[in-house]
Amino acid sequence: MRSGTTPGKDAIQRAAQALAAGELVALPTETVYGLGADAGNADAVRKIFATKGRPADHPLIVHVAKGADLSAWAQTISPELKALTKAFWPGPLTLIVKKTARIPEVVTGGQDTVGLRCPAHPVAQELLAAFAKLGSGIIAAPSANRFGHVSPTTAQHVRDEFGADLTVLDGGPCAVGIESTILDLSRAEPVLLRPGAISRQALAEVLGRAPLTQDEAVGSSTGAAPRVSGSLAAHYAPMTPLRLVTGLDLETEVEKLLADGKRVAVLAFAAKPRLRPSPVGVGIRNARPLVWITAEAGAAEYARDLYAHLRTLDAAATATILVEAPPLSAPWEAVNDRLGRAATGSGRR
Ligand code: TXA
Ligand code: MG
Repeated sequence: MRSGTTPGKDAIQRAAQALAAGELVALPTETVYGLGADAGNADAVRKIFATKGRPADHPLIVHVAKGADLSAWAQTISPELKALTKAFWPGPLTLIVKKTARIPEVVTGGQDTVGLRCPAHPVAQELLAAFAKLGSGIIAAPSANRFGHVSPTTAQHVRDEFGADLTVLDGGPCAVGIESTILDLSRAEPVLLRPGAISRQALAEVLGRAPLTQDEAVGSSTGAAPRVSGSLAAHYAPMTPLRLVTGLDLETEVEKLLADGKRVAVLAFAAKPRLRPSPVGVGIRNARPLVWITAEAGAAEYARDLYAHLRTLDAAATATILVEAPPLSAPWEAVNDRLGRAATGSGRR
């Protein structure tokens, strides 16, 4: 169903024209918002790197329309590529394949492979269809955030990152909320580069075997892992120092910080506890000493809301963000991956 904010045909057409003119357009996908440019136009793609502050050797994902002929962009259409696109596209799965010469080097950071993804969001699909009539029809789009920062899951998040001058198609809040699963099909064996909503198990069912982890791939005959900015330990990070704590330790940790006169922001499964009143916050007008968000209990809902919650907690500008660690079970793999990186990269304020 379309919300009142969803862009109409005119807005989509104008955005497609902007892409064809070599300009940047932020677009909604089901995972996170993307900062898009014509993937066939090297100068336009350079604007993405400049705007994000992203190092030039970090490759971009190329978004394709439903039913697009992949042989224009991928050197070979392997049985695995066919099976996976049939099972999961459009959807939150990026597939790394050997690229054709039609993908400019700047898109892939000089690598001979390209990440292809067919997003499920209807606005992204409408934009890809409109752009295919005017230009290359492929959109290079990293997450629409400054390099290393938390990915945006609403149009407002994108405006908060880049200001009001950037064209942003507002497709409402993203349904998945964390970036696509990335599977590398360019090596001897499929390698999972980034966990996401399409789980390792779901991939294994289609592949007939489990994809390798990056650790398994390194040193094996599949060769060294390519550069993946999402695989940097410090990524997806808030400015406020973020720490993961167990549910058992959470209340004690909060009390300790408050007793030290520190303000604290919390993302937990539990409801906000009743704590003894403390003198913190005195002199900080309107600054609550304890900001508390109770998270959804299910992994998919947790992922959907995660980045919005991290932004809210970061904006509270407390001394620390404490996150109650989710379970370590399979459904939480992607969430735990992002929380681990958020903790490592946090605290650069
Ligand atoms: O869900 C998503 O994938 C979102 C939306 C906008 O589609 N995009 C996204 O893009 O997360 P970005 O640039 O923030 O993350 C893309 C990741 C990076 O870690 C990049 O290194 C990796 O994909 N990547 C892209 N092309 C690659 C390639 N040829 N080989 C290995 N990794 C690649
Ligand atoms: Mg990103």
